[in-house]
Amino acid sequence: MIGIDLTEAPVKIANRTRKRRALNNVHFVVADAEQLPCIDGELDIAVRRFAFHHFAQRARVLAQMSQVCRPGGTIAAEDLYSSGVPARAFYYNHLERLRDHSYTRALAPTELQRMFSDELIVELESWLDVAKTDDRDAAEVRRLLEEDWTNDLSGAQPFRRDGTIRFQQRTLALTGRKNR
Ligand SMILES: C[S@@+](CC[C@H](N)C(=O)[O-])C[C@H]1O[C@@H](n2cnc3c(N)ncnc32)[C@H](O)[C@@H]1O
Repeated sequence: MIGIDLTEAPVKIANRTRKRRALNNVHFVVADAEQLPCIDGELDIAVRRFAFHHFAQRARVLAQMSQVCRPGGTIAAEDLYSSGVPARAFYYNHLERLRDHSYTRALAPTELQRMFSDELIVELESWLDVAKTDDRDAAEVRRLLEEDWTNDLSGAQPFRRDGTIRFQQRTLALTGRKNR
């Protein structure tokens, strides 16, 4: 496991904690999220926490996370989000930026969803293959997605690329913090 931050202070704190807890399967280094110190496809999970609102090149950071993650691996993020009402988002982002000038902008939920949507594309045939769907049901799934493609029925937004149907499979991860 590897943890990164652009600045030294959090990396030092993380390394102190690592030593105190005698953890030897994790290391922390100073690195830029746009240039991760990892080999392509080597990670099972790439997680970015509380940092997208600091990036100017969010798509580039997400693309890097995807590049170092193995096919079928998980890309996850927890972050602040702003209102979907532009005036409210502007107001909120303005006060956050005054507090900390390295803050760029918290995205609205729909913007975050759009940013992640390219990473959540499912290729129909391998998706059916994994579940060993029987031929009759698979044919019906194909028909339903063709129908969806024409009439926008489910929100999965199917489309064709390289001769096969692909669609968006959206996930929502919720976390809570135990205070007591
Ligand atoms: C709000 S703090 C969150 C820290 C930590 N990830 C957490 O969850 O507690 C945002 C962090 O993002 C880091 N950061 C900003 N731009 C970065 C970049 N390009 N690459 C890596 N880290 C970056 C900052 O140095 C800062 O420590």
